[in-house]
Amino acid sequence: MAPVKDLPETNSSLENGRLPRHVAIIMDGNGRWAQQRGLLRIKGHAAGVDAARTVIRLARNLGISYLTLFAFSEENWQRPAMEIKAIMGLLRRYLAQELREMQDNQIAFKAIGNLQQLPAAVQRDLAHTTEATAAGAKMVLTLALSYGGRSEIVQAVQALAQEIKAGRLQPGEIDATLFSRYLYTGDMPDPDLLIRTSGECRLSNFLLWQSAYTELYLTDTLWPDFREEEFIKALQSYQQRERRFGLTQEQIEALNASNSRH
Ligand code: FPP
Repeated sequence: MAPVKDLPETNSSLENGRLPRHVAIIMDGNGRWAQQRGLLRIKGHAAGVDAARTVIRLARNLGISYLTLFAFSEENWQRPAMEIKAIMGLLRRYLAQELREMQDNQIAFKAIGNLQQLPAAVQRDLAHTTEATAAGAKMVLTLALSYGGRSEIVQAVQALAQEIKAGRLQPGEIDATLFSRYLYTGDMPDPDLLIRTSGECRLSNFLLWQSAYTELYLTDTLWPDFREEEFIKALQSYQQRERRFGLTQEQIEALNASNSRH
């Protein structure tokens, strides 16, 4: 991985104090990228891994604390077996190749989703990478695999119901903060910015609860073409937004003034 000082020049156009803390990305368009070039879809996925590597490196170097990538959805199990096998192979190769660099760059790796559905070898690699990078304090890199937002919410409800049944929790004690802790992302802040590539304008069951106040950035660029410049553009767009969380402009200004006094 590039050393931390090795930032692209475009970085100078970003305000360091106003970077999103958590960026989530729906990496879409690998198949179309390959089709446009007369290549097999898997070549698009391979190029997609390269794009992910680039974005991970830049996010780490810029000082973004959490990066969450939607790598494989629950619905993706319906794809041809050959394609699934190839994606799993790319994932295993990525984990093996990047472990050392994640450790050197203090990146903590996490995987979220219905991981039991993944092949045993993939589960082992994920567990190993998670364990071996647990000390990483600079950025949390999360891959969503066999992930679905509704299933995540349902499993949280089931876990809470178990707590109530066991007498450890009263229904009235459940609020949004407690509920959030039962999600896969329980120990992370909600995403500030969610990027989706390839021109689609949907959440596609990604981080449904967590994205309630997230800024969306949609681009026609296909994921394999989403490199440094595109990522910087998304961050610049985020920095131009005014996040109000349902408050009035006056309330936001008062809050900002009070924050700057502390
Ligand atoms: C979307 O393209 C991508 C996927 C379904 C999953 C594959 C993701 C990667 C290979 C990146 C993995 C990253 C790491 C770090 C291992 P699509 O096939 O849905 O494209 P299409 O909509 O054009 O068909």
